[in-house]
Amino acid sequence: PTAQDLKGVRVVVSAGPTREYLDPVRFISNPSSGKMGFAVAEEARDRGAQVTLVTGPVTLADPPGINVVRIESALELRDAVVEAGRDAGIVVMTAAVADYRAASAATEKQAKVAGDVTIHLTPNPDILAELGRDKGSRVLVGFAMETHAGIERAALKAQRKNADFILLNYPTREGTAFGGDDNEVTLVRADGTSESWPRLSKREVARRLLNEARQLIPTLSD
Ligand code: C5P
Repeated sequence: PTAQDLKGVRVVVSAGPTREYLDPVRFISNPSSGKMGFAVAEEARDRGAQVTLVTGPVTLADPPGINVVRIESALELRDAVVEAGRDAGIVVMTAAVADYRAASAATEKQAKVAGDVTIHLTPNPDILAELGRDKGSRVLVGFAMETHAGIERAALKAQRKNADFILLNYPTREGTAFGGDDNEVTLVRADGTSESWPRLSKREVARRLLNEARQLIPTLSD
């Protein structure tokens, strides 16, 4: 592969957390920083791809030369990714999508009541799985965080969602995954084969991820 080895390829990347509002001022979310997704988007841009970055609320500024779409909820993320992903060659889902949202978000701020309250949650759509159901020739890449039986679970996940491969990372290693500048991942393919990479900068993880994805694009060769 050369420096511009993704020229003409449309790459869609999702990044960051989603926010699932319970009422206008309260939401369920997670600490995803968006750094991994931004690194993938920037690496793809620098290799000549046309990049759309769909991101939840993060503190990172819009990178130049990238079409940035800011969203909040999983439902908004789905709409934006499905739309941008229609004619994409590669879709990379780094977003930490909330598994559930409020079954009905209140339109007014909820007052405190005495005693316990119950929140009724309903599952969010699985966006990667949805893309996988109508995969076409797109290369689909996911991320997964597991605390145990990681490789096995990631391979099953890749198969179930019809993703080409998943990068498995661990929430417990200092300086990596959530918020860190580095990541330590294992590449797990749907066929169950895997490769563990050493601790690397997120940009270097992005570079290797795109090398693997590029090899899977039927119309590109070395
Ligand atoms: O949460 P989970 O481990 O299933 O996430 C694996 C992959 O699936 C990630 O790439 C994530 O972005 C994606 N995902 C998704 N929609 C969801 C949940 C996860 O696209 N509702």
